[in-house]
Amino acid sequence: MKLTIIYLLVVAVTLVLVFNVKVSEGVLPAPRMLDTDDDGISHFPSYHGIRMHIRCYKGGAVDVDLKNSSSDSSKETTTSDNILLFDNGINFYYCSWAKVLTKIRENKKLYSSVKQICFFDRYGYGNSDPAPYQFEPLESIRYLRQSLALINIPPPYVYVGWSWSAIHAQTFALNYPKEINGLVLIEGNNIGLLKDESVGLINNFTIQQFNHLSDQNSRGQLKEALKSLPFAGSQEDGQRAIGWLTLNSTQLPKVCIENSQAIFSDPSNNVFRAVIQDLSTMISAANYLNQSYYYSSHPQHPLGDVPLVILSGKEGISDDWEKRQIDMLKLSSNSVQIQKTSYYAPIDNPEYVEMALEKVIEMVKESNNNGNGNDNNVGTLVIIFDGDNGADDINPNSSPSVYHPTLFFNLFIIFFILLF
Ligand SMILES: *[C@@H]1O[C@H](CO)[C@@H](O)[C@H](O)[C@H]1NC(C)=O
Ligand SMILES: *[C@@H]1O[C@H](CO)[C@@H](O)[C@H](O)[C@H]1NC(C)=O
Ligand SMILES: *[C@@H]1O[C@H](CO)[C@@H](O)[C@H](O)[C@H]1NC(C)=O
Ligand SMILES: *[C@@H]1O[C@H](CO)[C@@H](O)[C@H](O)[C@H]1NC(C)=O
Repeated sequence: MKLTIIYLLVVAVTLVLVFNVKVSEGVLPAPRMLDTDDDGISHFPSYHGIRMHIRCYKGGAVDVDLKNSSSDSSKETTTSDNILLFDNGINFYYCSWAKVLTKIRENKKLYSSVKQICFFDRYGYGNSDPAPYQFEPLESIRYLRQSLALINIPPPYVYVGWSWSAIHAQTFALNYPKEINGLVLIEGNNIGLLKDESVGLINNFTIQQFNHLSDQNSRGQLKEALKSLPFAGSQEDGQRAIGWLTLNSTQLPKVCIENSQAIFSDPSNNVFRAVIQDLSTMISAANYLNQSYYYSSHPQHPLGDVPLVILSGKEGISDDWEKRQIDMLKLSSNSVQIQKTSYYAPIDNPEYVEMALEKVIEMVKESNNNGNGNDNNVGTLVIIFDGDNGADDINPNSSPSVYHPTLFFNLFIIFFILLF
């Protein structure tokens, strides 16, 4: 009798182990971001049974910090406490930051001022489990905090949010202000989407496209489906806009291309579902933020004086998008904008992101030294630099009227960019 029970237990444990091994290794390739010298560690903390993929690299500050921490109780060396946390736009995952990672590691000053560089996949993307139901950003943020706690990466963080995830970054900073010591919003989305009448239509259209991709993927027809999507411009640009990355369209490390294509075309269809979930929460997420800002005790600067860097294109995707980037400067009383061209800065212009990171780290340091941070520093335009032409004199308050020609003619891509 007892033996039978023990036997059954052994079988059950074995099954669980085997099952777990299968789930964690799955059909997805092991996460990696660099073709060579990749010493990152992928963590899979499981909070309430949902595993989140968080890949971290040590920064240069870790040694100094360790040596000093035993004797020095007066934690003045706050620069070495910086933990960079990178979040993605809709349908991108950890690997879209590979070039940014390389830039940070090559930049001695920047590298030595950060302790950890972490990239995570929101549920359903990359190597993270899917969410059991549609999570609102606040719920995602709660799970993210708990997941980070489980792997012993405690706050505060410098949260870098690209596109859609700028909403998550704001939600985090609003609800847990003590845990965010800096924000970088790259072509970020904001409450302005509530005033955009095309959002409902575009979301419906996009959801339809992703349902189609998902169906075709289940039939093993993904590649054909990707070719027949209604892209108005170059097919490769269009495919990249929806998350199908190629070496030619991104110049990302080879391992990133392979991993990201494997994730995108995984039979689970997790990515397609995650995209649809993100799109479905868009309005409610923005409404939540808008209400919180509107009824904030300090609505002028609802995020207080958190160091905030807005990295956004100089040539507007649209006037409205540009205006919204400038609007976001008011979220904090300590904000700057770096005007650069390129919605795809993390992939196409990692040096812009590097610049934004240098700036935010400098602001974090200043605000630590000043106690309560800088006030009346809203919307300083730090760098206006146009690549080829060098510095020029765009006024941050003027509405740029130039459209990026490729984007202008590629309606489908515009759809994605405006939203994500
Ligand atoms: C400890 O920190 C101080 C100042 O932050 C630095 O100058 C010094 O080199 C550090 N000591 C060690 C052993 O790393
Ligand atoms: C989007 O789809 C939903 C559900 O199918 C529908 O109720 C709504 O009217 C649509 N919105 C637009 C703007 O087409
Ligand atoms: C690679 O990209 C370039 C520029 O975007 C494009 O002109 C070319 O056709 C692409 N090549 C392939 C093989 O897709
Ligand atoms: C934000 O909420 C306020 C109060 O409900 C409302 O008046 C305002 O129009 C909203 N803003 C946007 C952008 O929808």
